[in-house]
Amino acid sequence: MDIFRIDGGIPLRGKVKISGSKNSALPLFAASLLTEEETILQNVPNLSDVNFMAEILSELGADVSQLDTNSWSIKPASIVHYAPYELVRKMRASICLLGPLVARLKRAEIPMPGGCVIGNRPIDLHVRALEGLGAEVRLSGGIVQVNGSNLSGNSVFIGGRHGSTVTGTANALMLAVLTPGCTILEGSACEPEITDLCHMLKAMGANIEGVGSHLLKVEGVEKLKGCQHTVIPDRIEAGTYILAGAITGGELTIEGINAAHMGSFLDLLKTAGLPLNYKKRSIKTSENLNLSPVEVVTLPFPGFPTDLQAQICALACITNGLSVITERVYPSRFMHVPELLRMGAHISIEGSSAIIRGTKRLTGAPVMASDLRASAALILAGLAAEGETWVQRIYHLDRGYETFEKKLQKLGAKVVRLPKSELPKSISSAHN
Ligand code: EPU
Repeated sequence: MDIFRIDGGIPLRGKVKISGSKNSALPLFAASLLTEEETILQNVPNLSDVNFMAEILSELGADVSQLDTNSWSIKPASIVHYAPYELVRKMRASICLLGPLVARLKRAEIPMPGGCVIGNRPIDLHVRALEGLGAEVRLSGGIVQVNGSNLSGNSVFIGGRHGSTVTGTANALMLAVLTPGCTILEGSACEPEITDLCHMLKAMGANIEGVGSHLLKVEGVEKLKGCQHTVIPDRIEAGTYILAGAITGGELTIEGINAAHMGSFLDLLKTAGLPLNYKKRSIKTSENLNLSPVEVVTLPFPGFPTDLQAQICALACITNGLSVITERVYPSRFMHVPELLRMGAHISIEGSSAIIRGTKRLTGAPVMASDLRASAALILAGLAAEGETWVQRIYHLDRGYETFEKKLQKLGAKVVRLPKSELPKSISSAHN
């Protein structure tokens, strides 16, 4: 297990290129199972989660090969309907294999995803969509078993009490495209990653209307064909770098973004006083060490994304005044808070809100990453902090940020990846 050592306090400067979106790429891999033909995916981020997904598809029988760092070919001529627990348990997103397997093979067996530190993550809405289209779903021995021998299009409401579901919508869509008749998915997620999936499905021959909205209308077709598709830029990675520029008082140009996917986030930063100069595909941040506090409520798209909540918390720790950050998607997603407190932040949690009183500076400390976005927040805090920050369990980070430390180093950050054995004895014994 590797760790990061960060020497903070250096304003980041330069250009950084954003990778393809992890949360788009994973369902796109799953969608490739909807045809026997070859699918080529480009601009795929080189991440451990993508490797897990590729391994699962291989286990299912697909011929999967990495053509170069960011391109993959998937030829699922003949596949089976069950995925192994050992691989599936490593990644919750494997639940989005249910839709394509049932669509193509009329049955699926996928181990139920296990616990998750960011909160309770049920799959009732996925099940509602599958059952709405005529599938029989049962849970046996921890495995979700689906029989889809009697599918037909239908009108299904798939929203839940925290809003729409992203991978639930992906599952419903991937099943509907090969289900006879007309399916109407009300309360669909309209995240850019779902729009990306719709574009790929359409390129494969699917018939979908309402792309980008909460109401998707799908006319089932008999067969889909292979296609070549380029994954959209990762809006969460882009947001994380914008915040890295802001928190260090640096000047960054972030290239290869799609600003249209980042409206609520960019608007919030402008309101806080961060000078941003953006074009359609790039954005430049300039120095402002006197940002105003923020009021954030995370919501499904086009609201402020929950996947940038931990990182905006890190910025709020050093803005002048009182910020309030409310989490509406995963009400208890605040595992980064106790670790930020170790760095001198002033944060209290009230229900699903973090109340943050900004301080002039954070101080480096040994901290423990608990999930992907919490890791990113701790690294941002470490970049801004005075002194040395040691971040443990950074394997979380490798799931979602392509070559994070290398990109940061190019911007002037003093961050190094080290084997855990390099952790000073005083720190490792204090953490045991
Ligand atoms: N929910 C239900 N029932 C369901 C499904 C979801 O109640 O059947 C609830 C969840 O508990 C949550 C809310 O609905 O409160 C939204 O969950 P959603 O299903 O949209 O999340 P997801 O599809 O499992 C994706 C991303 C997450 C991101 C969320 C929200 C992928 C692979 N994962 O998860 O990304 O936080 O949407 O935008 O796309 C990350 O990248 O760090 C990450 C966690």
